[in-house]
Amino acid sequence: MAAQSSLSLPSPPSRLPLGDGAVLLRGFADAAALLPLVQEVAAAAPFRHLVTPGGHTMSVAMTNCGQLGWVSDRRGYRYAPQDPETGRPWPPMPAAFRALAESAAAAGGFPDFAPDACLVNRYQPGARLTLHQDRDEGDLGAPIVSVSIGLPAVFLWGGLRRADRPRRLRLESGDVVVWGGPSRLVFHGVDKLPDGDHPLTAGYRFNLTFRRAA
Ligand code: SIN
Ligand code: FE2
Repeated sequence: MAAQSSLSLPSPPSRLPLGDGAVLLRGFADAAALLPLVQEVAAAAPFRHLVTPGGHTMSVAMTNCGQLGWVSDRRGYRYAPQDPETGRPWPPMPAAFRALAESAAAAGGFPDFAPDACLVNRYQPGARLTLHQDRDEGDLGAPIVSVSIGLPAVFLWGGLRRADRPRRLRLESGDVVVWGGPSRLVFHGVDKLPDGDHPLTAGYRFNLTFRRAA
């Protein structure tokens, strides 16, 4: 009986190496503690669906916190110190976000990570992010730290060439992926989010990606 009931407990944090400089840290983040901070950021800088340079409206809604925020429009992708919707600086990066990003980076082998940008993604069922590289950052020597909150998603983890067939990794609330060094420019994406009802976020998945953009 004891063994059976322990099956329902959350599993302890564990690490799954994904390649040289890349690791999935399962259960590393306290998603319930992060969610109210996401809501505070979104109250100051609302989620919006950005338009790509090619004219497509992204299915994922985005906002940012920190000194720089990632934006896209018909002119291209870039980091900007102000929210183009409000003309105001992005809301500051909450201390708990920074602390999590730094400790996850250190656990992934990057002890000197000092993020200046946090892109906040919001997925509703049907939203997806096609395979891409994160390459708009000024410092490609720094890793990316990606934190999942709410509904589970399938993360697509490819290779250094777009044509490399991606692995499909289920990311749960609290999972953190760190990639840098030789894996910094790995193609990655998120498969279409299935319907679901999560105790924390109902019909949404949120994702934080921390970057060194300047
Ligand atoms: C991203 O690639 O910027 C986000 C990845 C994710 O939502 O897990
Ligand atoms: Fe990305």
